[in-house]
Amino acid sequence: MSVGRIAVIGTGYVGLTSGACLASLGHQVVCGDVDAAKVAAMSRGEVPILEPGLDEMMARGLQSGNLTFVHGAAAAAAGARYILLCLPTPDGGDGRADLRIVHDVVAQIGPLLDPGAILVTKSTVPVGTAQDITETVDRADVAVVSNPEFLQEGTAVRNFMNPDRIVVGSTDRAAALAVAELYRDLGAPSVVTSAESSELIKYAANAFLAMKLSFINSIGALAETVGADVAEIADGMGFDERIGSKFLRTGPGWGGSCFPKDTKALATIAADHHVSFPLLEATYVSNDQAQDRLADKVRAAAGGSLCGVRIALWGLTFKAGTDDLRDSPALAVALRLAAEGAVLQGFDPAISKDVTAARDRPEITVVPDPYTAAAGAAVLVILTEWPVFGELDLLEVGRVMPGRVIVDGRGMIDDETAAAAGFSLVPIGRPAHHIVPA
Ligand code: UGA
Repeated sequence: MSVGRIAVIGTGYVGLTSGACLASLGHQVVCGDVDAAKVAAMSRGEVPILEPGLDEMMARGLQSGNLTFVHGAAAAAAGARYILLCLPTPDGGDGRADLRIVHDVVAQIGPLLDPGAILVTKSTVPVGTAQDITETVDRADVAVVSNPEFLQEGTAVRNFMNPDRIVVGSTDRAAALAVAELYRDLGAPSVVTSAESSELIKYAANAFLAMKLSFINSIGALAETVGADVAEIADGMGFDERIGSKFLRTGPGWGGSCFPKDTKALATIAADHHVSFPLLEATYVSNDQAQDRLADKVRAAAGGSLCGVRIALWGLTFKAGTDDLRDSPALAVALRLAAEGAVLQGFDPAISKDVTAARDRPEITVVPDPYTAAAGAAVLVILTEWPVFGELDLLEVGRVMPGRVIVDGRGMIDDETAAAAGFSLVPIGRPAHHIVPA
């Protein structure tokens, strides 16, 4: 039995992945976007983002006719039973999410919806948004359900098809259950809640993960000074099922389009409601410190000053497997180096254009291979955990790079491999082992 057509409004990585995956489950899905050129490209099967598996999924959807793309929210929403709002909710500048796009779209499509339609918020939205949308739509025959997504960039298709849970929240329980039914074939448990709980679950999950990362990064700093190793500590902690082994890899701090925005937004929600929540502030202050510490290591490796010093950066994206530079910790560290006068040459498997200087961005000359990035550099810094960085020929790097230090911000290289190629290695989360370079 057909459950009715699904409209997906907004084809960013959440909307596009959700649309293509729902089509693969046999649903009729129409994705609408304001960008006509993007709609035309997607209709030809072109995938606008780097997301493994999405191209095959989209191709199958287009071929079967289950997936189509149209220009504009109204064209997608008309006649649909479910309308999934996958719209941007950027930081409004004061720590609060800016919901103008969501409200504009809802005001536009509200009058066009069929009786019995269900508006579903998948975007990360502040507590109370489902209620606000209900008031904006102002129709007793249209329900609003919060159904946050938990997709990670770079593994979004796998995450969608193998969810840990489906969260649906609404004052209309029947509508919430109907939304949960869309995912029935995925076999995940459903958590059915109020709209407020569902909205808060998303922020709580992201902020908790960010807090876990800040915690392990601070343990890493401590491990360095007491002679311990954060990877061993993470192993020892992770076997405890109450803690879990995931999200315990130390690095140059966490970033991306979600954790920074959502941690700050949750802090603002707490403050707006006069609830003291000091862990949240500590979470992002610790993250800044992790970035400071890595920049300190690079300065020390360069001999105490970065002024005019050429530094090679391997990795620019906020994590491996994505081409997303938004709130990248790699760029945050690079910005600190640039502020002290370093000259930056970068390589990233997913980035081909130079990074241009802006308030929150350093200027980086982006080159097409890792060896060219190292050419003429005093220090090589590994900032993103692309697996290839652990497999490159360090002897070749040594031939083009006058400096003899690698600062490994992601734990990709071991001391022996570095030493065999003539480099000393500055790790994070453990003390440097002073192997005499060959
Ligand atoms: C995050 C959440 O993990 C998703 O569940 C959520 O749906 C998504 O935000 C969202 O709100 O849309 P994502 O932004 O793709 O997903 O990034 P993550 O994979 O969570 O990584 C975030 C940052 O943590 C990256 O900078 C990554 O390098 C860092 N990280 C992650 C570590 O430093 N160590 C780890 O062990 C894991």
